[in-house]
Amino acid sequence: MKEWVHVQKLVCSKCGTEYVPADNPLLCKKRDSGRLDIIYDYDAISANLTRKAIESRKASDIWRYEELLPVDSKFAVRLGEGGTRLVRANRLGEKLEMRNLFLKDETRNPSGSFKDRAMAVGLAKAIELRKQDVVTASSGNAAASLAAYCAAAGIRCNAFVPAEASKAKIAQLLLYGATVHRCKQIREGADVTVQLMVEAVDQLGYYSCPSFGPFNPYQVEGPKTIAFEIYEQRDWSAVDFIFVPTGSGCLLTGIWKGVRDLKKLGFIESYPRLVAVQPAGNQALVKAINEGLQFSQIIPQPYPKSIASGLLDPFPWDGDAAIAGVKETRGAGVTVTDAEMLEAIKDLAGYQGMFAEPSGAAGLAGLKKMVQDGRVKNSDNVVVLITGTGLKDPDAVLGIYPEPLLVDPRSA
Ligand SMILES: Cc1ncc(COP(=O)(O)O)c(C=O)c1O
Ligand SMILES: [Zn+2]
Repeated sequence: MKEWVHVQKLVCSKCGTEYVPADNPLLCKKRDSGRLDIIYDYDAISANLTRKAIESRKASDIWRYEELLPVDSKFAVRLGEGGTRLVRANRLGEKLEMRNLFLKDETRNPSGSFKDRAMAVGLAKAIELRKQDVVTASSGNAAASLAAYCAAAGIRCNAFVPAEASKAKIAQLLLYGATVHRCKQIREGADVTVQLMVEAVDQLGYYSCPSFGPFNPYQVEGPKTIAFEIYEQRDWSAVDFIFVPTGSGCLLTGIWKGVRDLKKLGFIESYPRLVAVQPAGNQALVKAINEGLQFSQIIPQPYPKSIASGLLDPFPWDGDAAIAGVKETRGAGVTVTDAEMLEAIKDLAGYQGMFAEPSGAAGLAGLKKMVQDGRVKNSDNVVVLITGTGLKDPDAVLGIYPEPLLVDPRSA
């Protein structure tokens, strides 16, 4: 093992049981839905890692921050994950009267969403463990991403996705060679895709790699690199807010871990306020944040409904860490309607030339709300994560405009 794999231990977020890295655990033995939080040896990391050392590196993908990742990069399949643009949104900023608005353009990842950061790490671990079959439960993006990495690694990918997954995401899955199972929701608040994934793990011994911490703790570390990049791209200067589209809460958990890593290493002095943005039709986590509920009190959304198909997890698997991240950074939880997300999509395209899917634009819709109600000031330094490309779900937006004129040159 290379010296820079600095994992000290893994600790179950639910029961506190500790695991040694050499055992390569995926799930808590107690099967209590706890996430095995990865704890690093920060003293060892800071002995060699400085801001300058990072800045001088050639790698522009997530492995640029290899000391802060839990797998040796020699196991990685590299498709160009991470290293995405941080765009100063001048035109959109002017429209919203925001002087310091930045968009982190995660649409640029190899399979079109930020999930590539997570799946690149999750699959590198599978390769290290010589797994040949992996299984995921996903609303589409994480599965499509995993399938891409599996294709490049020659590993079999099994995907359980909701029956409603968009055509483009299904097309990606099929082209990358995954075995795809579309699943109907049969019971209130149930996530059949997760139930079937767990059965595949228990009965067939498959390696689970969804983008939720409780079923794979390694992939959670991938999205941290978004936080690392944001700060490096801003010359390590302070950020007031980061807006995060939220479904299972894994992305927010990653950003929270990322800023904690940076603070522990002394690379930043203060935390950004983290804002969880959920659709009005699936808001169990934001409700918990706003009503001061404990994670254990969260009731899954009975029938999640929204055009933001990536944010429809009935239960926020990583809600414990997401709630802590929002609370400890004095952030917020906000819900947005489908109409507000469509407006945000139009703004991103019309003012910045950026095409996002509804889930990808939810963060901007959340920001607009908080600017309107005065919680975000015009001078605040704000980063909005634009998490998935609009090419994933063109059907969601085609209804905004009347059909373009059809010209028949023969009748001209
Ligand atoms: C485009 C997009 N944005 C945001 C999210 C939310 O991420 P999480 O489920 O980790 O909260 C997803 C999840 O599928 C997604 O596909
Ligand atoms: Zn446990």
